[in-house]
Amino acid sequence: MSNRLFIFDTTLRDGEQVPGCQLNTVEKIQVAKALEELGVDVIEAGFPVSSPGDFKSVIEISKAVTWPSICALTRAVEKDIDVAAEALQYAKRKRIHTGIGTSDYHIQYKFNSTREEILERAIKCVKYAKKYVEDVQFYAEDAGRTDNEYLARVVEAVIKAGATVINIPDTTGYCLPEEFGKKIKYLIEHVDGIDKVTIATHCHNDLGMATANTISGILNGARQAEVTINGIGERAGNTSLEEVAMVFKSHKDLDIVTNINTPKIYKTSKMVSSLMNMPVQPNKAIVGRNAFAHSSGIHQDGVLKNRESYEIIDPKDVGIEDPNSIVLTARSGHAALKHRFQVLGIEMEKDELDIAYQEFLKLADRKKNITDDDILVIAGKHRDKDARIKLDYLQVTSGVGVRSVASVGLNIAGERFEACATGNGPVDAAITAIKQIIHRQMIVQEFLIQAITRGSNDVGKVHMTVEYDGNHYYGFSANTDIIAASTEAFIDAINKFVR
Ligand code: KIV
Ligand code: ZN
Repeated sequence: MSNRLFIFDTTLRDGEQVPGCQLNTVEKIQVAKALEELGVDVIEAGFPVSSPGDFKSVIEISKAVTWPSICALTRAVEKDIDVAAEALQYAKRKRIHTGIGTSDYHIQYKFNSTREEILERAIKCVKYAKKYVEDVQFYAEDAGRTDNEYLARVVEAVIKAGATVINIPDTTGYCLPEEFGKKIKYLIEHVDGIDKVTIATHCHNDLGMATANTISGILNGARQAEVTINGIGERAGNTSLEEVAMVFKSHKDLDIVTNINTPKIYKTSKMVSSLMNMPVQPNKAIVGRNAFAHSSGIHQDGVLKNRESYEIIDPKDVGIEDPNSIVLTARSGHAALKHRFQVLGIEMEKDELDIAYQEFLKLADRKKNITDDDILVIAGKHRDKDARIKLDYLQVTSGVGVRSVASVGLNIAGERFEACATGNGPVDAAITAIKQIIHRQMIVQEFLIQAITRGSNDVGKVHMTVEYDGNHYYGFSANTDIIAASTEAFIDAINKFVR
């Protein structure tokens, strides 16, 4: 068996299913190009039948990317496969990923069907996809909870029907590493023709086992790992790319190699976190802010004497430079800021950089330590410059024992509107004033304020969900003034439905 492990990245499909993390096509192309540079073998670019946006993104990513295969997801439904094939028309290498739930939970409750019928549907969808492309990947959804004997029958049948890759998802994140590894081994030992195809792992992290299960699957013979950057994905997320890549880079004894260009990991992680407004937990393995921070005196002493006393990975191997090498302050010039953007995976044209630089100076005047997260917030502000509704000004008075009052000025497609309102707190007053300008029935459903780093001069990130006409719209902003950030997040959400 070859020792080459293929990396299948599903950040843009399974990762993008996280509520509030949706990207537009331009942002998806940016991520896809970063994944290509990182060296992934396959990019799952979307689920084309699910929305016109996904369809368009698969087309545009196919045009933008050269080396990795582009994969499109479908259900075991002919229409899905037709649409996926059409979306993949420009891909230089293309793959259709089709499949169906095989656990009894799915068969009985989701499909109200029988094992025999599901087996037939599995064969049919692979044969149908094969009419369009040579490379057909089959997924047995909820394979983690599927009876091994039945799973082996399905896998054998779809291989006969022409599948080239067999994906074994632990959809609900239920398995334990030994159990998942045994499942892969069972298939290798019991399925005719399995040696002609690649077996893939696709693990979810509901019990915190996603990476462990993936590694166990690979050690038992799987040769494709399905992963996302930063482990993002629905619920507790998917297996994280950087963890799998660094496990095999660190453990040479396992003799498994990937094509991942590991010094690109950090900037890709930062780019995805910034575009998806999804902070990386500080203690996240490999890419978290504290992943290489030594705070105890004993550890600091040990690392200074010899890095390897307490570090198994050289931070440079994942692209983390010495964060103190260039410190950004109010006296830093364009070049220093541009360099920092590049380290974080953000490219800007000269005029965009000029605007971002002005934002940077404003922030540096208010805040002594400019962190990478602050820089990403500035990059995010620059992306909002084409919004239809912009906040012109905001003035609030609030305090203890008084009712809050807000005056708000909005610029809507170039026209100026003003309103003043009182409220149960400054944010409520500002939102009430905005509602006086934009006469719609809008309800704030979720409202979360997070400090990015620490300290009272920190930038606050605000995530907000606004319900309008039965749909939910996500808004985000960041500002050292949390009332301003909350108001901007509300405006960001309404920009998604006010045309
Ligand atoms: O988790 C899962 O089962 C999936 C499949 C669609 C591959 O994401
Ligand atoms: Zn999944």
